[in-house]
Amino acid sequence: MVELTLLVVAELGFVEGVVYEVIAVSFSGEPHPAPIGVRFRGGVFEATIYHDTATYANLKVHPMCTLNVVGSGLLFYDAVYMKHKLRVMREGDYWFLADADAWLGVTVLEESPERGKSVFKFKPGMLHLSQVKPKPYTRADGALVEMLVHESRIKPYIDSGLLVEAKRLYDLIAHYNELVARIAQNTEYQAYAKAIYESATRRMGGLKGG
Ligand SMILES: Cc1cc2nc3c(=O)[nH]c(=O)nc-3n(C[C@H](O)[C@H](O)[C@H](O)COP(=O)(O)O)c2cc1C
Repeated sequence: MVELTLLVVAELGFVEGVVYEVIAVSFSGEPHPAPIGVRFRGGVFEATIYHDTATYANLKVHPMCTLNVVGSGLLFYDAVYMKHKLRVMREGDYWFLADADAWLGVTVLEESPERGKSVFKFKPGMLHLSQVKPKPYTRADGALVEMLVHESRIKPYIDSGLLVEAKRLYDLIAHYNELVARIAQNTEYQAYAKAIYESATRRMGGLKGG
């Protein structure tokens, strides 16, 4: 069972510990798509779901859903504001997105309630792969590139005396570094983000010294 789960994780393109944004399709009467962040950690899939969402209400009625891997931010927009645009289909007990690059049917193993939200642990069931190799969407990728772009401008700004601009970029880098530490703890993403943050801190430190 453990080997099977790891195989599923590898097929989906997940790296342990990284939060990936997927579109969950839950149901009670009607199938209901909504974006959620999911990570594979300690042998299970985990998601934190707010109590005031329809997804939460559905999971309380039917403790199962599908996690649909999609690569485009536009589909996340549709999943929030244009749910009717998403094509949903059914296979057995699962509803899924017809246009997903891959989907995984999961059932709830455990719910740990916190204030206003619950951490759910899910056990994988049916896995469906399409022709496309799934590349699950993580905000850590975007954050890392933003950090690189901003860091590359700090020195030129300092050299040109644009200190307020340099500080603004440094603050953004610090923000993204915190984000990556939260959504990709103990991963290569976190190590890279930390390295960029430290480099930026050194550049800003030089400024204070001067
Ligand atoms: C990329 C993305 C990730 C999200 N992740 C979560 C999440 O992990 N947990 C959660 O409760 N809501 C999350 N949300 C918010 C819900 O998808 C949003 O509140 C949704 O419209 C309401 O959910 P509902 O349709 O189930 O009521 C996320 C939204 C986006 C755009």
